[in-house]
Amino acid sequence: MKPDHGQLLYEGKAKRVFSSGSNERVLVEFKDDATAFNAQKRAKLEGKGQINCQISASIFEVLEREGVPTHYLGLESDNWMVAQYVDVIPLEVVLRNIATGSLCRETPIPFGTELSPALLDLYYKDDALSDPLLSEARLEKLGLLSKQKLLEVETLSRKVNQVLTSFFANLDLLLVDFKLEIGLNQHNQLVLADEVSPDTCRLWDQRISDPEERILDKDRFRKDLGGVVEGYGEILKRIQGVCPKPRNYK
Ligand code: TMP
Repeated sequence: MKPDHGQLLYEGKAKRVFSSGSNERVLVEFKDDATAFNAQKRAKLEGKGQINCQISASIFEVLEREGVPTHYLGLESDNWMVAQYVDVIPLEVVLRNIATGSLCRETPIPFGTELSPALLDLYYKDDALSDPLLSEARLEKLGLLSKQKLLEVETLSRKVNQVLTSFFANLDLLLVDFKLEIGLNQHNQLVLADEVSPDTCRLWDQRISDPEERILDKDRFRKDLGGVVEGYGEILKRIQGVCPKPRNYK
């Protein structure tokens, strides 16, 4: 259901962000659109928006309970979320527990290598530049955030990894890697923004050993494996088995 909302502030590949009538809050719509390879591959996957919105809401509630600040305030409807207004830092923070994806395409690190401590990669979020991997020196040159804030980003991201790795392990899901986006709220505090969903995390079903069948995340779409929404639905089902229904914003 579409709530009353103000003007469109931002449209991304999987979400739209609208003003809400308050300077402090935005309304986020999760779309059914799926894209990969910097939007060269596109599809509409019916039900994806709703599933990702519900998964993200539950994950944000789990993280909040563990002391991780997030932009999430509550649900508005099945595929709409209310969030704090934040300035998103144009960075993609990727944490990798198991080597796969671009790490294996771009380095000789073998597929499946366990990375402990998790590898943290920072990318500059800019579709026109295809989200390039940053060096520390380039990051400093860009001046996107202070050294102190960068350390805070790293601490926050590692805490998210620790909480989510054990949360998903309880559901027989292996958190292979994931991408986070971080924003600054109106009090200049870092908060986790964007979404945490199978669009942004790789999750393998530990009850299945087949290397393709066990994939439950957007790699099903990237690799044309089929059953994308079914994979996402399986993750939601397991989360709903242990989490209460996410709160409504009121
Ligand atoms: P990668 O192996 O393609 O670099 O992806 C690492 C993780 O980041 C994986 O969980 C998927 C996620 N990701 C996004 O959420 N958005 C993106 O644009 C990309 C490239 C990856």
